[in-house]
Amino acid sequence: MAKLAGFGVVGSGAMGSGIAQVGAQAGFPVTLFDISEAQLEKARGGIQKSLSKLEEKGMLKESAGDVLKRLNLTTQLQGLKSCDFVVEAATENREIKFKLFRDLDALLDPKAILCSNTSSISITEIAGQTKRPELVAGMHFMNPVPLMKLVEGIRGLATGDACFQKVRAVAETMGKTFIEAKDSAGFAVNRILMPMINEAFFALQENLATAADIDEAMKLGCNFPMGPLTLADFVGIDVCLSVCEVLHRDLGDPKYRPCPLMRKYVEAGWLGRKAGRGVYVY
Ligand code: CAA
Repeated sequence: MAKLAGFGVVGSGAMGSGIAQVGAQAGFPVTLFDISEAQLEKARGGIQKSLSKLEEKGMLKESAGDVLKRLNLTTQLQGLKSCDFVVEAATENREIKFKLFRDLDALLDPKAILCSNTSSISITEIAGQTKRPELVAGMHFMNPVPLMKLVEGIRGLATGDACFQKVRAVAETMGKTFIEAKDSAGFAVNRILMPMINEAFFALQENLATAADIDEAMKLGCNFPMGPLTLADFVGIDVCLSVCEVLHRDLGDPKYRPCPLMRKYVEAGWLGRKAGRGVYVY
C-alpha cells in the first residue's frame, strides 16, 4: 500500500475529477487544482454523485462523506505545493501540458513525482520540460475512472525504476490493475482503440450501416459494453481526433489517417456527450 503526504491532481474535467475521487477513496489526502472555479464546482457535483452511487451499491469502504473530507479543491497551483505525487490531467494540448510541468517542477519539492495522464503525448518530451526527468512518468487512467480497472504506466527514456515502482504502487493502492506500455504514440490502449473508432467513422461515412447499427454490431457481435460511435461520443470526438492525428504523425503510416467525417464533426462542434451532440443527440 502506497502512502502519500499529498496526492495532487491538475485539471478537473472528467479524467481529473475521476482520478481525484479514486485517490480520495484510496485514502490519500487529495488536492484538485483547476484554473476555473466553475469547472471545479462541476467536478465536486460529479464526484458527490459518483460517490453516492458507489455507496448505494456497497462499493465504498466508508461513507461518501468521509471520502469527500479528504478532497480539497483549489484554483491556485500553489495549493499543490505540499504534494509528493501529482497527476496532470489537463487539456490534451502540448503547450498547456509543457508549461504546467515547468511550473510544477519549479513549485514542488525536488523529490516529488510528476505524472501525466496524457493519452498520446510523449512522456519523454513532457519529462524534458523539467529538471527531474527521472521522477516523471505516464499514468494513464481510463474513462470513467471510478469504474475502469486499468492504469497504463509509461516510462519516459529517463524515468527511474524507483519512481516507476511508486507509480505502480499508487495505481494498485487505488484499486487499479497496472500494465506497462512503451512510450510510443497512443501507448497500448489508444494504439488499438482509436484506429477502431476511426474505422467506425469510415464505415459511417461510407454508409456501410447506420450509426445505431454499427454500434449494435460491435455490442452484440463482439460483446463490447458500448459501440465504437457511442464510445467516441463518451470520450469526446475532439479527443479521438487528436489521438488519431498523433498516431498518424508519429507512426507515419497512412493507415492511421483520421477519417474526414470525424474531422467534420469536430469542425461543427459536435464533440459528443459533453457538447450535447456528437454522432448522437443528447
Ligand atoms: N461513478 C459511479 N457510477 C457510475 C459512473 C461513475 N463515474 N458512471 C456510470 N456509473 C454507474 C451508472 O450510474 C449505472 O448504475 P445503475 O446500474 O445503478 O443505474 C452503472 O454504472 C452502469 O452504467 P450505465 O447503465 O450508464 O451503462 P453501462 O452498463 O453501459 O456501464 C460503462 C457504463 C461502465 C461506462 C460501460 O458502458 C463501459 O465500460 N463502457 C466502455 C468504457 C470505455 O471503453 N472506456 C475507455 C475509454 S478510452 C479511455 O478512457 C482512454 C483515452 O485515453 C481516450
